[in-house]
Amino acid sequence: MTGTSPVRPVSRRGLLTGGALAVGGAVTGGAAAAMTRTGGSARSDVVAADTTPVAAVGGLIEPFHGTRQAGVATEPQAYASFVALTLRGHTDRAAMGRMLRLLTDDAARLTQGQPALADTEAELGLLPARLTVTFGFGPGLYSAAGVDDRRPVSVTELPSFRIDRLQPAWCGGDLLLQICADDAITVAHAQRVLIKDSRPFATVRWAQQGFRRSPGVEPGGHTQRNLFGQLDGTANPRPGAPMDTALWVPDGPAWLRDSTTLVVRRISMNLETWDLLGRPDREIAVGRRLDTGAPLTGTAERDEPDFAATGPDGLTIIPDFSHLTRAHVTDDRLKILRRPYNYDGAPTAEGHADSGLIFTSYQADIARQYLPIQRRLAERDLLNEWTTPIGSAVFAIPPGCQPGGWVGEQVLG
Ligand code: HEM
Repeated sequence: MTGTSPVRPVSRRGLLTGGALAVGGAVTGGAAAAMTRTGGSARSDVVAADTTPVAAVGGLIEPFHGTRQAGVATEPQAYASFVALTLRGHTDRAAMGRMLRLLTDDAARLTQGQPALADTEAELGLLPARLTVTFGFGPGLYSAAGVDDRRPVSVTELPSFRIDRLQPAWCGGDLLLQICADDAITVAHAQRVLIKDSRPFATVRWAQQGFRRSPGVEPGGHTQRNLFGQLDGTANPRPGAPMDTALWVPDGPAWLRDSTTLVVRRISMNLETWDLLGRPDREIAVGRRLDTGAPLTGTAERDEPDFAATGPDGLTIIPDFSHLTRAHVTDDRLKILRRPYNYDGAPTAEGHADSGLIFTSYQADIARQYLPIQRRLAERDLLNEWTTPIGSAVFAIPPGCQPGGWVGEQVLG
């Protein structure tokens, strides 16, 4: 790779008028230079200096019991499975209680490195690797239990957006099991135990598996990269007061206090047309640099974007159709917490990728926080050229439980 890449630069006007897809290689001079700097022997030095031992990862434990469920504010683990269940016709409120007592017991044990009761593969339950199991309640669960008055008002099917190409196979669900850990075997085992124990009460509607960087690969709390190569998660609310404000319902009845809500969107990413785009145009599409994640008006990832700054052509440096401009929110009460996982399914026979994001957004109130952002993005966001929502579901994440209790007791008990 040299600095004289054949990529044809595309002007801002070109992007606006649909000429975004330049033909040719995908990496321009700056990127090529960066690659050279990390190549060869220099690269081995960097890796040796940065690598931390990962032997302890398997034994790491996230708490299960608490006023709030784990797996939301938890530092994201490397692997996730999202399993949406449909309740069987005979599963009434009492049966839901029995099911959730059982599933809570499984989760409480497995997350602490103990096999589930009657675990057929007990050895697989011994390395939790920061396993969390988070339960989500879809609108249908509240109706089936006859407790619609306990459904957080914003937990209702999303309106349709013009960018949506939703496939019913990836939509909806009465009960969500969100299973995350830093080890794929741990996730697979927990998923199997939980599905086995829910079988008398529910069927699997859809399951989505995703991944982020493995522990130890990039030590030091880095923002994850999605399969477009972008740093994804930079502007999330910071842990502590900002995140708490965005996420948790602070007061109200016991079934609402310390709950949050979740929107799961399966968003397909067209890597092949993205590949045809030059690096400057990729950066314009999102409004941030690919290498550092800095806004186009800054030099470091955490620099505040300057949406008013203009370039020599008199246009704003961060275009108003960029993902960053359209999604930007400054008030913590209006922010969302994104905790996305990449997916990469089997390529087609012709070698076309099936890649994208299991986009997850957590917020105290979907209508107040998620919907305004999603509406702005659906209306105008350059990233829509390469992304397509194909699945959609909403869930309440009820409060957590104490030892001896069960998740959902405030809603169904
Ligand atoms: C495949 C689809 C998507 C991709 C590849 C993507 C990628 C990105 C990237 C690279 C950033 C900049 C870095 C960061 O702050 O994380 C970003 C920011 C953001 N995105 Fe997305 N995104 C996608 C979909 C969505 C959706 C569906 C929403 C919400 C409805 C959303 C909301 C946001 C928000 C709120 C920000 C932070 C903006 C700010 O305040 O600076 N994104 N996204």
